[in-house]
Amino acid sequence: MTSYDAIAEVYEWLISDAKLTPAEFAASFDDVLGLLPPNAHVLDCSCGTGQLAVGLAGLGMRVAATDASEAMVRRTAALSEEFGVSVRTVRADWRELPDHFEDSTFDMVFCVGNSLHHAEGARGRVAALESMSRLLSRGGRLVLTSRTWELVRARGSRLDISDRLVRRNGRDAVVVYRWDIAPNWEDEHHIEIAIAQVDPAGSVLARSELLSSWPYRYEELEAELRRVGLRTELSTFDLEAENYMVVASKV
Ligand SMILES: C[S@@+](CC[C@H](N)C(=O)[O-])C[C@H]1O[C@@H](n2cnc3c(N)ncnc32)[C@H](O)[C@@H]1O
Repeated sequence: MTSYDAIAEVYEWLISDAKLTPAEFAASFDDVLGLLPPNAHVLDCSCGTGQLAVGLAGLGMRVAATDASEAMVRRTAALSEEFGVSVRTVRADWRELPDHFEDSTFDMVFCVGNSLHHAEGARGRVAALESMSRLLSRGGRLVLTSRTWELVRARGSRLDISDRLVRRNGRDAVVVYRWDIAPNWEDEHHIEIAIAQVDPAGSVLARSELLSSWPYRYEELEAELRRVGLRTELSTFDLEAENYMVVASKV
């Protein structure tokens, strides 16, 4: 199972410069946040290290943050404490969300930063989306961001090594992604991520994790959203862009 526990401590080396702080991460969703009522109730269901959840709480929203990785949930709780905001944190796989929250609880659910491909194939993805949909109030919205997997698969298996050092917390690291692209879309793919920190004396400390991935075509995702009662309101999908965002509302 995909865990992220081994790289949770060094996850900031994977976050883009523009989204490092909670305020910046939340601001990257300014357009959709404008659709929310005052004092909105929102969920980030793959919260990672918590920048988005803490940023949303800083805007005055009532925020819950969940993740399958215990280490990620701990980091989110620590970040909310550091920023003095209230975020309800729960370790939960997407399928377990209905065990923790009532149906129709949230005005907005976020599943962002390329998370959904970790759901196990079409069946796992639909189960995950079904959980997210259940938790949305009528008219509430799911905000999902995704890699354009059509592009990733077209490039095939490969090694991507960052072309410059990434500096976080005063430390430099080389970030490496190894993409293991399976022959068929529906097969389990693998992505190995390594963060190799280099200290001034030249020592290298590497952390890595092998993650499972089940990529999907955009058209599949759209059909799956419809299947779980979500209607696409906005999509930035473009076959030539690296990432896209979909906003889908609960019918
Ligand atoms: C690429 S990270 C994105 C984290 C964060 N949303 C961001 O943008 O920085 C993917 C996250 O999805 C979580 N995840 C993976 N599989 C999951 C599952 N089945 N249920 C809930 N979260 C999951 C991982 O633990 C990880 O924190």
